[in-house]
Amino acid sequence: MVSTDPTFHSLDHSSFGVVATFGDGSIEESIDAFVAAGDLIRGHLTRAGGLMVVKGLTALNHAPEQLVRISRVLGPEVENYRGTLTAARFFHDQVPEILVLSNTPPCNHPPPPKPAPGPGAIGGLVVQYPHQSNWHTDQSYRRPPPDFSLLYGVTTPPSNQGQTLYADCSAAYAALDRGLQDRIRHLNGIHAPSWIGRRPADVRAGVEPKSLLAHQLPQRHPLVRFHPDTDRPSLYICDENQMDFVEGPIEGLGTGPECEGAALLRHLLHHATRTEFVYVHEWSPGDLVIGDNRCLLHAATWYDAKRHPRVMWRTTVMGNPGVEYQGEPKSWISQEGYSPMHGMEHA
Ligand SMILES: [Fe+2]
Repeated sequence: MVSTDPTFHSLDHSSFGVVATFGDGSIEESIDAFVAAGDLIRGHLTRAGGLMVVKGLTALNHAPEQLVRISRVLGPEVENYRGTLTAARFFHDQVPEILVLSNTPPCNHPPPPKPAPGPGAIGGLVVQYPHQSNWHTDQSYRRPPPDFSLLYGVTTPPSNQGQTLYADCSAAYAALDRGLQDRIRHLNGIHAPSWIGRRPADVRAGVEPKSLLAHQLPQRHPLVRFHPDTDRPSLYICDENQMDFVEGPIEGLGTGPECEGAALLRHLLHHATRTEFVYVHEWSPGDLVIGDNRCLLHAATWYDAKRHPRVMWRTTVMGNPGVEYQGEPKSWISQEGYSPMHGMEHA
């Protein structure tokens, strides 16, 4: 009989993260083993700082519903994108819990920008903010934000492009000097989606911010979140495309791209994305990466979208955001119910 019990080892070339390996059984046997080992999986993931890599799951391409089964191991609720502000072209036509991220139709997402030359490189790839941009944590413009994002590589570009970077924000917080830890501990960042006219570039260009309904408003989160399973503090920030520079980016520290809060945010991002805190995931088809949004930042890197298709599937898992959010209704669900709205149909 083929054993599908998972084994675990640390992630190479990284100070955090774990690789889970299953035996040579069928995809159903592997997923059954993953689900049966739920406590073990969650324990290893937590001890590894919130990052887990599983390789060799290409059979998921023909069994997308199995990705939802895997996701349910991480928490009680997997987002159904049919029920939120997401246009149908951005999610899987058979499995609405799967968001599709791709440069191919019908999504047509553009690739992330190339990093500017600068310091803070791993294997020749510049990873550190601000030269590498796009660092964020998923859906931070919602309260409560999602606990986990699972990213699965269906079609991936050749190596050395289209990577996903992860930064360990618990280690980054621990490495701050005590004075700065104390200063930021009771501050709130204001998070906003990139498409509502609140980025620094929008403010500088005098763009009129979109008028928003109550459930579309930017959301405040502590700059320092305590992980509900470990009580370990982490930085909780995003780069400027996912922060609100009309009202912030940091509550009480001014407004706009030149204010005190903007300078503090840039300093924290530069610090959190230092090479010693960053893991670079080079994708192969069939890779699954599980990331804990409560304690990690991530960023997709540039790839040659004219030559290479890239198709990724993503699920998000909610249900354990911590005491800060206890009992809150979902900020992004309108009183009227579920419906995509003009200009707000993104994930
Ligand atoms: Fe993301």
